[in-house]
Amino acid sequence: MFLIDKKLQFAVESRVDTRRCVGYNAAGKNFPPTNAMEPIYEGKAKRLYTTDDPNVLRMEYKDSATAFNGVKKEDFENKGRMNKAITLIIYRMLEGKGVKTHLVEDLDDINLLVKKVSIMPLEVIVRNVAAGSFSKRMGVKEGTTFGKPIVEFSYKDDALNDPFINDDYAREMGAATEEECAYIKKMALLINDTLKEFFLEANLRLIDFKIEFGRLSTDPSQIVLADEITPDTCRLWDVETGKKMDKDRFRQGLGEFMESYAEVLSRLQK
Ligand SMILES: Nc1ncnc2c1ncn2[C@@H]1O[C@H](COP(=O)(O)OP(=O)(O)O)[C@@H](O)[C@H]1O
Ligand SMILES: [Mg+2]
Repeated sequence: MFLIDKKLQFAVESRVDTRRCVGYNAAGKNFPPTNAMEPIYEGKAKRLYTTDDPNVLRMEYKDSATAFNGVKKEDFENKGRMNKAITLIIYRMLEGKGVKTHLVEDLDDINLLVKKVSIMPLEVIVRNVAAGSFSKRMGVKEGTTFGKPIVEFSYKDDALNDPFINDDYAREMGAATEEECAYIKKMALLINDTLKEFFLEANLRLIDFKIEFGRLSTDPSQIVLADEITPDTCRLWDVETGKKMDKDRFRQGLGEFMESYAEVLSRLQK
């Protein structure tokens, strides 16, 4: 959602080199660099800004945490910085394994430059262990390990509460063709294998995660991994103790929320 009342605040607070950024007017046209920067999109966890390259966006990680579709909301110092750092480590690792992502480069403590994509309105969820909405919906005890990973789709629409859908819904809603769904599912499983191993090296068990894909603005036939991979979007449990190290600490009011993110980041940096 775009918050008008925050316009002035952004202009004052923005710490980014304005030479890299262009403005945005009501007609949606870019105009030359300006200090009065406004995001073209403000979401729950990040803001998007245009840059001097029409195919590249600046993605700013905010300090806010939200849960239950924005019903529970609070700011946490350094959250944006930590999530940006975690995403960067993971995206670089995935790129190294041949996964195409939107990552262009690291910009500063809270900003990444990313390729502009048209986000497919699908939340792609991979589950290794029962938790969260799966346990609730299916009545299966949290912690039950699946024989094989489950891939599921939600339709990305906050107003509809991101409803659970299948490939046929995705096709008929114009979200993705059958071939694209198959490709996305294949990529999601590959990302799962890679992430599972990567987190295990950090003594973290990957329970489940949500990812998003988008079509490159430069070539919409190319689908890449977009958005973030952080403890906001993954469930991670400590291998030894089973301690939750992700956003469930916020959802469930378990305390030590940012301490857990800091611990995840420091383990991934080793
Ligand atoms: N490379 C990209 N290009 C364009 N949009 C993107 C890209 N990566 C992620 N997005 C979108 O930007 C938004 C990021 O902000 P976020 O706070 O996560 O929003 P939301 O509240 O919608 O989840 C999301 O809607 C996401 O789909
Ligand atoms: Mg999001």
